[in-house]
Amino acid sequence: MTNADFEKIIDTSDEWITTRTGIKERRIARNGLQTSDMALEACRRALDMAVCPPEDIDVLIVGTVTPDYPLPSTACVIQEKLAFPNAVAFDIAAACAGFISGLSIARSMIESGTARKALVCGAEKLSTITDYSDRGTCVLFGDGAGAAVLEASDDEVGVVETYLRSDGSMREWLWIEAGGSNQPITPDFPFDGRDKILMNGSDIFKVAVREMTKACVKVLDDAGVSADDIALVVPHQANIRIIEGVAKRLQIGLDRFYLNIDRYGNTSAASVPLALDEANRNGRIRSGDYILMVAFGGGLIWGAALVKW
Ligand code: UT7
Repeated sequence: MTNADFEKIIDTSDEWITTRTGIKERRIARNGLQTSDMALEACRRALDMAVCPPEDIDVLIVGTVTPDYPLPSTACVIQEKLAFPNAVAFDIAAACAGFISGLSIARSMIESGTARKALVCGAEKLSTITDYSDRGTCVLFGDGAGAAVLEASDDEVGVVETYLRSDGSMREWLWIEAGGSNQPITPDFPFDGRDKILMNGSDIFKVAVREMTKACVKVLDDAGVSADDIALVVPHQANIRIIEGVAKRLQIGLDRFYLNIDRYGNTSAASVPLALDEANRNGRIRSGDYILMVAFGGGLIWGAALVKW
């Protein structure tokens, strides 16, 4: 869906969307295609790339706020479709920080010996929770999925450091008010937009720049790695101006940030793994590189992960 498509349905312009967000296009999944279908394809490709049979996976973690069903988890749907006989599968609702949260949990499980191989996926069909009459949000979001396989290793590579934080006091800045136990959707529900994403964008923007920067500094400090040593930053793709703000504060040139927001928009938990996979397949990542991932989203929740490739 292009900016020109939005010009036909709401009061907006390609110029506004491009300069305020950096987005030109986003992918919208067709009707009938579920979050698990996109996740399945991403998981399949990750397993192929890692030359890992599904039966080797001990844990499957899916970050999503758009599960196929309220119950069971999308991870359990994928477990059945791809046949992971030996895995425990569960979702995490950490919005745009879903992939980095999954990575952090998988790392802990591997380091503690609970799991040897983990499959971490971020998958979203945000078009199902987007209000296409709200110009403040609808131009931002897209659908997609990405995944990665992690395994125990004695080599000097892998997830070096992770950091996660949240602050629930700002949860109403980015939320879906209705549809849960607090406000169930009953036969007389007015469908006035409260069952879709509502966002206080400008306040989130400031907290996002500040906390994403702090999260990056924290993992770098904890790992004893300097910002100059980072080969590539793979940030959550919410707004090009947020990424520019983080780049400036970290004093890392924008040329060392992987950017694909122009083609996908904000895909929440899928954003970081989509960018990571593109960067890898495009030859932007070499063996031994330090890769810094960082994300921020509804909760509010945010985090960073430092990986040695
Ligand atoms: O995924 C992680 C969490 N989310 C984020 O990180 C999102 C963070 N926030 C943002 O990216 C930005 O705040 C937005 C892109 C959502 C909005 O950009 P902004 O520069 O903060 O704009 P604003 O909300 O302050 O609105 C400025 C003006 C308003 O008009 P007035 O009141 O100044 O006349 C809006 O009504 O822009 C107007 N506006 C639009 N105009 C054309 C808002 N959306 C649109 C639009 N087209 N699509």
